Amino acid sequence: MARILVTSALPYINGVKHLGNLVGSQLPADAYARYMRGRGFEVMFICATDEHGTPAELAAAKAGQPVAEYCAELHEVQKGLAEGFGLSFDHFGRSSSARNRDLTQHFAVRLFENGYIEPVAEQQIYSKADGRFLPDRYIEGTCPNCGYERARGDQCENCTIQLTPRELVSPRSALSGATDLEVRETRHLHLRQSLLKDDIDAWIDTKTDWPVLTTSIAKKWLHDGDGLQDRGITRDLDWGVPAQFDGAPWSGMDGKVFYVWFDAPIEYISATAEWADAHGLGEDAWQRWWRTDAGADDVTYVQFMGKDNVPFHTLSFPATLMGSGEPWKRVDYIKSFNYLNYDGGQFSTSQGRGVFMDDALELLPSDYWRWWLLSHAPESADAEFTWENLQASVNKDLADVLGNFVSRVTKFCRSKFGEAVPEGGAATPLEAALIDELAGRIRAYETQMEAMALRKAAFELRSAWVAGNEYLQEAAPWATIKTDPAQAALQVRTGLNLVRLYAVLSQPFIPDASARMMAALHCIDWSWPGDADVALAALPPGHDFAAPENLFRKITDDEVEAWRTRFAGGRG
Ligand code: 2FM
Ligand code: ZN
Repeated sequence: MARILVTSALPYINGVKHLGNLVGSQLPADAYARYMRGRGFEVMFICATDEHGTPAELAAAKAGQPVAEYCAELHEVQKGLAEGFGLSFDHFGRSSSARNRDLTQHFAVRLFENGYIEPVAEQQIYSKADGRFLPDRYIEGTCPNCGYERARGDQCENCTIQLTPRELVSPRSALSGATDLEVRETRHLHLRQSLLKDDIDAWIDTKTDWPVLTTSIAKKWLHDGDGLQDRGITRDLDWGVPAQFDGAPWSGMDGKVFYVWFDAPIEYISATAEWADAHGLGEDAWQRWWRTDAGADDVTYVQFMGKDNVPFHTLSFPATLMGSGEPWKRVDYIKSFNYLNYDGGQFSTSQGRGVFMDDALELLPSDYWRWWLLSHAPESADAEFTWENLQASVNKDLADVLGNFVSRVTKFCRSKFGEAVPEGGAATPLEAALIDELAGRIRAYETQMEAMALRKAAFELRSAWVAGNEYLQEAAPWATIKTDPAQAALQVRTGLNLVRLYAVLSQPFIPDASARMMAALHCIDWSWPGDADVALAALPPGHDFAAPENLFRKITDDEVEAWRTRFAGGRG
């Protein structure tokens, strides 16, 4: 059977992530991984904290902590929040692991041996005020492409262009604000991506099913201007994978580390090795996911990420894998996302603007957020979070449609037939019509989930919930029971089976509610519905259950008001 490897872009270690980060990679990746597991595939779902480079150093300095200690602490925080959101990683690793150090150095050596890495004398920006070179985020300025004034030395977060510090207009030190910067010469390792341009181009051309958002970004970098540029992959930093090490085929890289974007995607592989280590498994266990000479040809590999990450995943990381000359598994499909905005502006980590994962879990259970975020994922365009919108989705979709259905069916059954599935009579055209409708919805839901079209999948799922409500409304067992108790019993049995069906279908979106539905039904049969009529017969007459408490509560207008005010000022 085909195996599915799913990776989510690795969240930077520099603090708790906001909902825009979450919906741009980890959460949709989780829904997809859960769905594929639900369909019976063998899934490996990998994520990790991205711990190197200037984001980590700057955040640790701000927190007044040694960077290693800061990273260890924030890794635990992020891990806890991931659990809180039900993110079902097989492993949540750390890019600062020994596995990743070794593998990063291994790739660098292979690339050097194949002529794809060379030491180059570079002009770098040096700050006398800070007494150091200012790589990447240590420098800020105006983006030469879009004019955004807070562009960083490695990338403009506004227009996603990749930058080098020297390209910034009006550069300043992010450490001290100093503007008396000078250019000094220093040697760095360069990844000669330009030599791999044609190979990468040809490879992208085979990806005819990729979203335009993904391929257009890759093509732009391949062809605009002078085409794909070589890039420095070392930095003058303390924290990172050392660029000078035993067995390195170069010299003069003492005190330098690899660029965070060189080692971060390698961590997808390393984290899988960390998973094997954590389970006491051998090298084969992870290599069968990653090495085509160890069976990874059977693997379908899907990556989830925000649009600003696309250049690194379509160009630099493939260049690393190809240039190694080794049989590494390359991505089959990249699902990229636009941005989620917060109440008319951007979510921003640096400005503390928006709702962050810890805030969110303090306010509401994770399913409420998962449902809103996934059903409004910024897939074809940027999306906007508003409190009213969250309230409307939770109150209507979850409380009124799904929650109410479960509550009505289970409580009605308890009051009239007791807490066991009643026997009931033969199916009527009403049940046949329900089965027809559900069959269509389930197949459409599968199609959308397989295409990773989360909004459309959420629509089909909700439509399946609505179909149950409409059935119940029309069947009206509370009226039927007065004239035809056997018929009412059938209707209730159908309703109880719908609850199980909804638990199975909804699990990628709202796993906690699904688990509660199954627990209430005293059911452990999570098998995916093939035929809708078979699925609606899963709970046999006589099967006992316990009517659950309400699955969802409503969000009040007062709460919306209070939360809007509370989050207006930023996180401080
Ligand atoms: O943009 C980011 O948040 C990066 N930390 C993503 C890294 S993805 C991968 F390559 F590691
Ligand atoms: Zn820009």
